[in-house]
Amino acid sequence: MTQVQNPAQTVLSQDDLKTLVGQAALQYVVPGEIVGVGTGSTVNKFIDALASMKDQIKGAVSSSVASTARLQALGITVFDCNEVAELSVYIDGADEIDPHGYLIKGGGAALTREKIVAAQSRQFVCIADDSKLVQALGKFPVPVEVIPMAVKRVTRQFAAMGATAVLRFKDGAPLVTDNGQHILDVTGLQIADPLAFESQVNQWPGVVTVGVFAFQKAQVCLLGTASGVKTLT
Ligand code: 5RP
Repeated sequence: MTQVQNPAQTVLSQDDLKTLVGQAALQYVVPGEIVGVGTGSTVNKFIDALASMKDQIKGAVSSSVASTARLQALGITVFDCNEVAELSVYIDGADEIDPHGYLIKGGGAALTREKIVAAQSRQFVCIADDSKLVQALGKFPVPVEVIPMAVKRVTRQFAAMGATAVLRFKDGAPLVTDNGQHILDVTGLQIADPLAFESQVNQWPGVVTVGVFAFQKAQVCLLGTASGVKTLT
């Protein structure tokens, strides 16, 4: 683990920590290439920082409508995922990070596109404040994107595992993702083996994406701490 000191030794807010890791992620961006960009408030800090090197990169592949809008507003070209065979790096946040780099993602409902862009990238660099680091995944409700007609069926399958799945709402109606699907947030899970859990839930008819990123785990995590950015590899 490497650590960069907080040079001014000032008290840093959670927003400051996100800014720090967003800026620190720039060192992983390869000049002349296209960078994979995730979604969320931490990634927004990265996108803002990326604007400072927009003339050095070809552009970005984005994981959500929201990130695409932010990238384009800053003058960064956004490529369709199908136009690009492979990306050198994908930068994204997470809701939970375990010591192996396994993640829970999807708090921002962008998990499906995030997993696609992560899978298309040689390296996944996860950026987060250190409150996201956990010993074992599962305290944060696991988001699962499901096809609307399968909501009840998948809810029952989680109940049979002793877990509780709750349909996510936004503005008084079931949230609709960028892909036109719904999100179940699942609590009460024991995720002892993230790879096995991801495989199992992926098999269920109607599940589009499970928000456990074990097969697409992070190779590098940049964690914002009170004393600076810690790098976990
Ligand atoms: C969106 C995500 C986000 O990366 C995750 O929710 C973390 O977001 P934030 O940086 O706002 O805490 O997975 O689907």
